[in-house]
Amino acid sequence: MRTDIMRESDLDLVVASRQKLADRVIELILTDRTGQELPHWDAGAHIDLTLGSGLTRQYSLCGDPSDRSCYRIGVLQELESRGGSKYIHEQLMTGVCVRAGASRNHFPLQQAPNYLFVGGGIGITPLIPMIASAERAGADWRLIYGGRTRASMAFVDELQLRHSDRVVICPQDESGLLDLAAILADPCEGRLVYCCGPEALLSAVEARCVAWPSGSLHIERFAPRVTNPALPDNAFEVELSESRKTLYVPAGQSVLDVLLEAGVDVLCACSQGTCGTCETVVLQGEIDHRDSVLTPEERATHTSMMICVSRAASPRIVLKL
Ligand code: FES
Repeated sequence: MRTDIMRESDLDLVVASRQKLADRVIELILTDRTGQELPHWDAGAHIDLTLGSGLTRQYSLCGDPSDRSCYRIGVLQELESRGGSKYIHEQLMTGVCVRAGASRNHFPLQQAPNYLFVGGGIGITPLIPMIASAERAGADWRLIYGGRTRASMAFVDELQLRHSDRVVICPQDESGLLDLAAILADPCEGRLVYCCGPEALLSAVEARCVAWPSGSLHIERFAPRVTNPALPDNAFEVELSESRKTLYVPAGQSVLDVLLEAGVDVLCACSQGTCGTCETVVLQGEIDHRDSVLTPEERATHTSMMICVSRAASPRIVLKL
C-alpha cells in the first residue's frame, strides 16, 4: 500500500513533551521540527502519523486550535495493538521526530445553540476542542463521558476543573453503563449530538437517535463499522476522467487495489474505510458505501466514496482521477 508517499503538505514534527494522562493513555505535544507555526485546524480534525516502516495511524487533535505552536494528541495503548499505539508508547519519546500528514476533518462541529457530547474512553479526544469551541460560541452544552474506570479516563481532572457543572463522568465500575435511554430520551430541535468511542457505544447511540431529527447525530469511528458479510460483491467498471482509463474491478477486489495495480497514484492509510484518506470524487454512478466516515446525508449524494472499501452500486462509475 502507498502509505509512505511523501506529500508536499506532510509535516516533520518532533515530540516536544509526553506525559501519562490515564492508565495506558499518554499525551504527546508535537511541534514543527524547525519551529514553524503549524497549519490551522478545527475541532474534530485528526492527523495521520507515519510510524516506523510506513505504518500510518490517525489521531484526533485535542489541543487548542488557536495555538499554532503545537498539536496535542492522546494515545491509548491498545491491548491488541496492530502496531500503531505500541510503537507510539514504546518509541515516541521526547525529542523523537515523526512525520504527519496535514490535518483532515470528517467530524466537524456544526454551529448550533445546543450540543450533547457523548464520549467513551479514548473517544473523548475529538470532543475536547469541540467543547472549547462550544464554550467560546456561548452555546449550551453537556458532556456525558463514560469509561471502564476513573483511572482509565483521560482529561477527567481538566474537564471537571473547567466545567464541573456541565460534565457528567460515568466510570463503569462506579455507575454502570451509560444510561442512553435517559440521556437520549428527548429528541430536541436544535440540539446536535456528537459521539465518539467504542463501536458498542456508537451503535447504541445511533439506535437511540433514530427518533431524533435527521442530521442531529454526528459520529466518529476509530474502527470500521460492522458491515453485513452477506453484502453482494459485484464486479463493475471504473472510468477515470482525468487519466482517461477504464478499469475492471472484479468481485473480491477493492477499487483501491485495482487502481494501485494499474499504477494510478492514489493515497490510502487505514484501508478500512475509517480515516478518509482515500476519499475520491465520484462524477457518475451510484455508490455502495461501506465506509465509516461519511454521514447518511453525504452518502445519499453519491458525490464521493472511500475507494478502499466502498463499491459501485451501478455497472459503471466515473471517478475524478
Ligand atoms: S484509506 Fe482510510 S478510508 Fe480509505
